[in-house]
Formats: sequence, structure tokens, C-alpha cells
Amino acid sequence: MSAGSPLADDVPFANLPVARQEARPVPPDRASRAAVARRPEFTMPKITYIDAQGTSRTVEGETGSTVMEVAVRNGVPGIEAECGGACACATCHVYVDEAWAEKAGHAEPMEEDMLDFAFDVRPTSRLSCQIRVRDDLDGLVVRTPARQG
Ligand code: FES
Repeated sequence: MSAGSPLADDVPFANLPVARQEARPVPPDRASRAAVARRPEFTMPKITYIDAQGTSRTVEGETGSTVMEVAVRNGVPGIEAECGGACACATCHVYVDEAWAEKAGHAEPMEEDMLDFAFDVRPTSRLSCQIRVRDDLDGLVVRTPARQG
């Protein structure tokens, strides 16, 4: 865009050389996104998924996502997640390893109700879409049932 173009008067900083454009003020929404990307607490805790045959897969999960989302994103088999994480299908059922059960937390009533539809429910059963990945869950181990639903 050159000076004198019809848009130049409407777009602030459009006529500045590129180096000067870099110094222009950043809109608040873009500034906050950049701050989120730089935040030091954004970590990648490791989660291990063990299937019913004993095959173990360890992947890194983003804090704030769910154990189900991490599995789906990384192609971990055994978690179908048909409802996409809406706590409405029970096809993301996992067994939280005993050592992690307390730290992973307990199912809320809605999750408990949905677990009634899961296959082979046990005391440490959870819906992986309801377990939020946090820093203190680094090393979490979950097992997938022989089948979902
Ligand atoms: S993905 Fe459907 S209940 Fe978890």
C-alpha cells in the first residue's frame, strides 16, 4: 500500500516502513494472547496410557486440556470420546492408576451417573474428558478398559 492510496488514511500505521510498523501498539486482545503463549506455567505434563493388552504409551499433554483430549490428539487407541468431551457418552472411560487416584480427584455426580453406562466400572474409574491436565499430574498413569461402552 502506498501513501495516497484510499486505504492509507483509514488504516493507522499503514504508511510506516515495516520496521516502524513493528513498534505500533498491539491491540489488547493480541497482547493477551501473546502473554498466554509466554506464560511460564504453560507446561507439558507426561501422561501414560496403558491399554488392556499392557501396551504403554506416554505422551505430553497441555495443561488445561483434558486427559481425553490429549489421548485423541496423540492417537492413543482405546478412547473413543464419541460426545467430544460433553460427559454424555462414557466412551472415554479410564482406570486411574491407584497411585494417582487421589491426585486426579473424584468424579462429580454427573460423571458418576454417566459411568453407569461404561463397561467394567471399577473404584478408580473416571471419564478422561473430566480430568483436567495440571502440572501436578505430571506422570499420571491411566489404563483403558478392554472395550468402551
Ligand atoms: S468423551 Fe463422552 S463422556 Fe467423555
